[in-house]
Amino acid sequence: HLRVASSSLIPVGDPTLLLTTAGMVQFKPYFAGDTTPPSLRLTSSQKSFRTPDIDIVGDATHNTMFEMLGNFSIGDYFKEEAIAFALEFLTHNMGLPKDRLYATIYLDDDEARELWIQAGVPDERIFRFGDQDNWWGPAGLEGPCGPCSEIHYDGGAEKGCGPMLEPDALTALLREERDTGVEAVIQGCHPNCDCERFVELWNLVFMQFYQDPQRNRTPLPAPSVDTGLGLERMAAVLQGKSSVYETDLFWPIVEKACQLSGKTYGHDHETDYALRVVVEHARASSFLIGDGVVPGNEGRGYVLRRIIRRAIRYGRRLGLDQPFLAELA
Ligand code: GLY
Repeated sequence: HLRVASSSLIPVGDPTLLLTTAGMVQFKPYFAGDTTPPSLRLTSSQKSFRTPDIDIVGDATHNTMFEMLGNFSIGDYFKEEAIAFALEFLTHNMGLPKDRLYATIYLDDDEARELWIQAGVPDERIFRFGDQDNWWGPAGLEGPCGPCSEIHYDGGAEKGCGPMLEPDALTALLREERDTGVEAVIQGCHPNCDCERFVELWNLVFMQFYQDPQRNRTPLPAPSVDTGLGLERMAAVLQGKSSVYETDLFWPIVEKACQLSGKTYGHDHETDYALRVVVEHARASSFLIGDGVVPGNEGRGYVLRRIIRRAIRYGRRLGLDQPFLAELA
């Protein structure tokens, strides 16, 4: 794969996107066939920013700004190689035990199921999910999209909320939900469960369609691959930490916030939560400002202002309410 530098958090030439949300954003014209890529195989570590999770940032794994590691096939390899490459990278290069890896696939993607089994992930660790979890894209109002397959890391049954659901039982529930439109009641643990057992590590998107602003989908010039692996979550798993904040990436900033506030991390939930919010938003704001975003009342400036304000709100709970911070609010 040809290594490509991260693009700015401010997307170039894409008025439908406020901020760069994924590694594939700078490659959108390649997938669509509008521009010729320098290679059919690309890889990058892309600064990315997502707003949907802002209100839950402060938990163990969600970030607004993260670095997304990805490999991309522009009409070159497809599902089989994408799955094989991902497993090879996680088990051989990163040294993760294969029996800790679970795969999720799109509800009807029998081909992906076969390929995961062929790659050595047994049926009982392959779960099907619907549009909400296993359909990706487009990024922005239009762009490439397709069914996806995620790799989740099992932190161990002791971190879970109870016995695992049988994959087939979950599939039956989700198919019924799709057919009837009535939300399924899911009881039992599974890779997308809200408990702390599983961490979603990597998303392999099997790009097949271009979705226009009216939501019409037409086939891409060629089936392609777009993957996204969060550096922060990968670091937490590799360093055996229960949150991204205890990894090398965040810990020095946590220590600084502790020093400024006189608080200690790891003693009570509320203090830890507030420290994590301040730390994450301080880091994310720095990246946004570094790429030229300035706080404002609309668009990306408002996103920046929103996270600064949220950091200040939590900072006050830590006693970090110095006058220069209050002025920014
Ligand atoms: N573009 C793949 C992902 O963001 O998960």
